[in-house]
Amino acid sequence: MKFKVSEDVQTPSCPLITDQSVLQNIGNTPLIRIQNLGREFKDVEIYAKAEWKNAGGSVKSRPALRMIEDGEKSGRLTKDKIILDSTSGNTGIAYALIGKVKGYKVKLVMPANVCKERKGIMADFYGAEIITSSPFEGSDGAILLARKIFKENPDLYFMPDQYNNDSNWKAHYETTAKEIWEQTEGRITHFLAGIGTGGTIMGNTRRLKDYNKNIQCLAVEPSEELHGIEGLKHMASSIVPGIYKEEELDGKISVSTEASYEMVKRLEDEEGILVGHSAAAAMWAALDLASRIDKGVIVTIFPDSCEKCYINFGKFKEYQASTPHTLPKADCS
Ligand SMILES: Cc1ncc(COP(=O)(O)O)c(C=O)c1O
Repeated sequence: MKFKVSEDVQTPSCPLITDQSVLQNIGNTPLIRIQNLGREFKDVEIYAKAEWKNAGGSVKSRPALRMIEDGEKSGRLTKDKIILDSTSGNTGIAYALIGKVKGYKVKLVMPANVCKERKGIMADFYGAEIITSSPFEGSDGAILLARKIFKENPDLYFMPDQYNNDSNWKAHYETTAKEIWEQTEGRITHFLAGIGTGGTIMGNTRRLKDYNKNIQCLAVEPSEELHGIEGLKHMASSIVPGIYKEEELDGKISVSTEASYEMVKRLEDEEGILVGHSAAAAMWAALDLASRIDKGVIVTIFPDSCEKCYINFGKFKEYQASTPHTLPKADCS
């Protein structure tokens, strides 16, 4: 079954006009009903937050804006400072967009294998400076390099440090979770989100449990250390973010790279939605959960679309087989 991709939910959101009004298009994203996948689970409804509708094109615009504005309020971010952070892409696009709107220089450290489309948006659209770290060290390599650059010249930079900044999860506590609660009219029973920095899962979990402590909140994580699900972290083999508190969650669901890549295709074919691999991993986890409960209202997060930007599964397998201890190199052509 092939569905027409809905224009309404597919519009990419990396605006060229960067006046202050752009920032109003962060938050208040649509909640979409998954219509066909999981239809066999009669008493389970599945919904996804279409986070690519944020200005900046991803869920990360929410915490980026909050971290920058909290930096301004605290006096740590002043006009003479450069915003510096490590990012695998989406946070970088958000920093670059917000920096351009607010008049800050932005320096971003990311693994060299982040695709050229994303780097292009950050550097060419919004004028951010990009520093690349080793593609073989993934996001951890970028974190360490950003820390080194900061330490060499601390007065020059404002480093939000999204992995350890409470404003990251608070953005979700105050916006995303509130929207989900209102959009489901309080009917949500289960929440699922992938873990990168942990901001999305922690902020939503805390607020949703404030609303109703019985809501089950589960993290979605890659099942393998060497994986191809861009944006997500395999916690056992990564630097664990300071803001991630696994003990507050009700559990985790592991998703293989292969399953998430297949789900990208199924979401396109069966729902008419083009999303990235972390959204597809969340969808896979939602179906897995749906198969294990009698009834419920599951809400998950689709962090981005960025369909042009990902390596395909064949390429991932090829790299994995030839260089088992290194990360795959993104081929974005
Ligand atoms: C595509 C994608 N999915 C999921 C996430 C995870 O979000 P969080 O950092 O809030 O855990 C990220 C984070 O960068 C991402 O880029």
